[in-house]
Amino acid sequence: MSKFTLQVNGKPQQVEVDADTPLLYVLRNDLKLNGAKFGCGLGQCGSCTVMLDKEPVMSCLVPVSLVGARAVRTVESGGTRWVPSSVLQQAFIEEQAAQCGYCIAGMIMRATALFEQVASPSDAQIRAWMQPNLCRCGTHMRILRAVRRAADVLAAQPIRNY
Ligand code: FES
Ligand code: FES
Repeated sequence: MSKFTLQVNGKPQQVEVDADTPLLYVLRNDLKLNGAKFGCGLGQCGSCTVMLDKEPVMSCLVPVSLVGARAVRTVESGGTRWVPSSVLQQAFIEEQAAQCGYCIAGMIMRATALFEQVASPSDAQIRAWMQPNLCRCGTHMRILRAVRRAADVLAAQPIRNY
């Protein structure tokens, strides 16, 4: 066991775990942040996607010892379904993009990363960017519409607030 201090959703968090523990397990088991989901555990589904600084990563593949000082952001950094705090969350609700909801935290974090890197993504960019994340319910078209809707709302805002 080793001690690590992680920056998670803007706060320092200390954990004592084995160095090779996946970040996903630390988030869920030690920090009780259950938004990111365990799907495949193999980097193939994206349900565990969180952000490290501005990059979306599959947290099942990232050993906690490799996180270092990078800022970890999870879906809990946004609002709730009762009080959505972001354009993206609102767009997912308006497009009814969730069916079971298992993939949605990962989808929202991947889309957040897109908006931080590309100011006005095209449909083709959205489709390519979201491609690593799978939805076992098959609501991909609604998810893509939600990201499109959010991109259009953001493009019309003087100050971008995801
Ligand atoms: S659980 Fe991490 S990619 Fe599937
Ligand atoms: S909504 Fe069920 S996995 Fe995507």
